[in-house]
Amino acid sequence: VDMSRIRNFSIVAHVDHGKSTLADRLLELTGAIKPGNENSQVLDQLQVERERGITVKAVTASLNYKYKNEDYLLNLIDTPGHVDFSNEVVRSVKACQGVIFLVDANEGVQAQTVAVHSLAKRNNLIIIPTLNKVDLPRADPENTKSQLKSLFNIDPDTVLSISAKKGWGVQELLEAVITRIPPPKADLNKHFKATIIDTWHDKYRGVMCLAYIESGSIEVGQTVKWRSDLKQHTLKYLALLRPNEEPIEKAVAGQVVMVGCGPKGGGSVGDELLSLESAEETKVASAPTVKHMVYAGIFPSDQSQHTQLSDAIKKLALNDSAVSVNVDSSPALGQGWRLGFLGLLHLDVFTQRLLQEHKAEAILTAPSVPYKIKVKGAKAIKQYKGEEVIITNPLLLPDPHNIVEYYEPYVIGTIITPVEYIGAVNTLCVDRRGTPLPSSSVDEKMTMMQFILPLSEVVIDFHDTLKSLTSGFASFDYQDYGFHSSSLVRMDILINGALVDELTTIVHTSRLEYSARRLTTKLKEMIPRQMVQIAIQAVVSGKVYSRETLKAYRKDVTAKLYGGDVTRRKKLLKQQAEGKKKMRSVANIKIPRNTFVDVLKR
Ligand code: GTP
Repeated sequence: VDMSRIRNFSIVAHVDHGKSTLADRLLELTGAIKPGNENSQVLDQLQVERERGITVKAVTASLNYKYKNEDYLLNLIDTPGHVDFSNEVVRSVKACQGVIFLVDANEGVQAQTVAVHSLAKRNNLIIIPTLNKVDLPRADPENTKSQLKSLFNIDPDTVLSISAKKGWGVQELLEAVITRIPPPKADLNKHFKATIIDTWHDKYRGVMCLAYIESGSIEVGQTVKWRSDLKQHTLKYLALLRPNEEPIEKAVAGQVVMVGCGPKGGGSVGDELLSLESAEETKVASAPTVKHMVYAGIFPSDQSQHTQLSDAIKKLALNDSAVSVNVDSSPALGQGWRLGFLGLLHLDVFTQRLLQEHKAEAILTAPSVPYKIKVKGAKAIKQYKGEEVIITNPLLLPDPHNIVEYYEPYVIGTIITPVEYIGAVNTLCVDRRGTPLPSSSVDEKMTMMQFILPLSEVVIDFHDTLKSLTSGFASFDYQDYGFHSSSLVRMDILINGALVDELTTIVHTSRLEYSARRLTTKLKEMIPRQMVQIAIQAVVSGKVYSRETLKAYRKDVTAKLYGGDVTRRKKLLKQQAEGKKKMRSVANIKIPRNTFVDVLKR
């Protein structure tokens, strides 16, 4: 393979703007798959991807294409559809020199369009601006071009127009990939070195890796070593993905290939595979540090399903190195796990895959975010080694006297909305403690608004509320903005004076009264009346912020309940026995288990 004839590229776009459809066309046009419906969207492999229409796992295809009588090798490195997945996206852009920047000419620029453009810019990639769906009668390519001009300063003359569905303009687009994107800057004359950009687990062959060869060449059977531990292995598997595996004997710098060293051969994202002569002796951390921004607890809906759910989580986590899994237990929900995710969509997709692919039934708790604190006399507080501590479980927050400073994660939210909803969007964001940034006009009908928002206010129900406020016309995306100082407190819920572990939360002081009232009134609605009076209190540092009282049953009510004929009474007792399993008892008060999950949702 001649390196000057290799092109490595990705397609980036807002959800539904046609990335998978275009990938299918590229595969057809280069002969990788046959035209027709059976192969439709081969790159969208997972069921959840098909159902939700979003791409989750990056998949790569090496395409052969003849241009001006020369043979080219075009590596399409598919990227997942959301910046939540920046982890995966960033890995794959490392192997790319350019992107097809796809925008639906019917919908125009959307929130994620802005996000993927900035990702490409940050990584100095060549951008091929491409309008899709120009076959639609309501497509407005001229207006979309002027949107691209005003938001990203893209020259309208460089914009291509295609219909991925009909195949219009796709050939010209492939030629633009060859003429506009440079070949990889890899070095054939140096020792072999490849970076792992993705991994997945194969039942029989162990970890399989997608590798970008930065220098040198490699052959099957050659001895190689991992940079992370310098252990030696034999290269067992080497293949091009077309997108199905096509075994090859040798690969060279610039190529993107599948490699594997067998069941004990290892391999993880970010690690490097080196030839034995390579003098690089310094270890690299394998997986780049993943920042988990959203946490949620997951529990089997019945403890008898614990093993089944455990297996399912393990299996999925093997193919998604970005998720973190820690054992967790709760008096109400039993033995379970606390999972860490890159963002909301990641959480959504992971749990949906879990339920779908493994048919596991599970209870998912309301999502929460990590907080950071600076502690006084860190040495005195044993469990904290450093001065700054990340807190993912509110119960582990130390005594407030030992906390010097609180921080919470913020994001920059981008919202593209029709102008008539500017007021509504503004109210929503300010309500969620947002600080507006300057907005810019997209065209005369649409506006791009940006806000700095606490992530904790975004993780619960923000997207749905935005959609319903704007009749579905606004799009939303967010970028990490880091931890910033904040005024936070730990709020506890007491039932007849006893602490309910599961309901301890961290809240912003400005929202204290509101959160306290909301939680107590909601609990009052959800807890069934019992034989004794129930006091529900929201407490911060010993001070009660809200109190609700749930009256006891009156005598005659219970009398009636236990009267009646024998079969009815038996049935009632049976129901009660079944119900008991799903109850948690706090200070002798029975609380239905779903309360613990539902009350924290908005
Ligand atoms: P993600 O995987 O979530 O990023 O979505 P996607 O960008 O891959 O979108 P996908 O290819 O699934 O297309 C979304 C919808 O738009 C599908 O219903 C496609 O059939 C349709 N579509 C894609 N390209 C075109 C086009 O050129 N013309 C028309 N009319 N429809 C298209």
